[in-house]
Amino acid sequence: MSFVTILYGTLFYFAAAVLFVGLAYRIYEFSKIPAPLKIPTPPAPKTKTGVAVRILREVVLFESLFSATKWTWLFSWLFHLALLLALFRHLKFFTDPVWWFVSLEIIQAAGHYGAYIMLFGLFGLFARRVFVDRVRYISSPSDYLMLLLIIGIAFSGLLMKWFHTDVLAVRQFFLGLMYFQWSELPADIVLLVHLFLVILLMIIFPYSKLLHAPGLFFSPTRNQTDTSREDRHISDWAKKLESMKE
Ligand code: HEM
Repeated sequence: MSFVTILYGTLFYFAAAVLFVGLAYRIYEFSKIPAPLKIPTPPAPKTKTGVAVRILREVVLFESLFSATKWTWLFSWLFHLALLLALFRHLKFFTDPVWWFVSLEIIQAAGHYGAYIMLFGLFGLFARRVFVDRVRYISSPSDYLMLLLIIGIAFSGLLMKWFHTDVLAVRQFFLGLMYFQWSELPADIVLLVHLFLVILLMIIFPYSKLLHAPGLFFSPTRNQTDTSREDRHISDWAKKLESMKE
């Protein structure tokens, strides 16, 4: 087994552990943060079904970003759409047998052309941080670095169109990691750069602003019903205090 295979195999196990344990812990933390006040952003739904629909619209359409700023919405929505297309294209590396829809030509083509959309969205988001004064003012180095990291991943992925890699061997390597039967990883430099940046992303994810993905579901301005006139809102921890008094 080559040094590169052992190095990347070990790094992927480590990164996967940090990602999954870190994410689970963050979600646990989010679920424990008290929401003492009723603060849904109006107009807000009055029922739980209404809240579910509102969050679904946020997830699919980025609705509140759309009402806030159209350019940011455009770049960010396109980027996330491309991310989904890339995910579908990449599932061929992790499913055995490959799921039927993943091998469809249209899904593979959409994943490939999505790479250009992804870069377009990312460059738009980067330009926004550089050229819009009020955004530049509140941008920290990590805001730029996260964008650069994902640009690096998308760009190195796209480069493999010209610097071919043995896709079947890559698949074998990842299935091998999943089933604990390691096999060789091709040592092509572009592939190794792509994968190294992915490892970095996996490790950084639970500590970064990328937590907005699970965070959306825990946002009280989005996940509360507008029923403060009908019911008295008492947060869970206050309920515990009240029952102790009785
Ligand atoms: C362990 C995870 C990953 C593996 C094994 C992997 C592997 C690959 C390989 C082998 C290619 C070139 C061949 C092909 O397109 O099928 C590729 C392309 C690409 N990857 Fe990844 N990648 C991973 C994660 C990611 C992530 C997290 C992103 C996005 C943030 C990403 C974005 C891309 C893009 C945009 C392309 C270009 C698609 C194309 O032009 O066909 N990859 N990846």
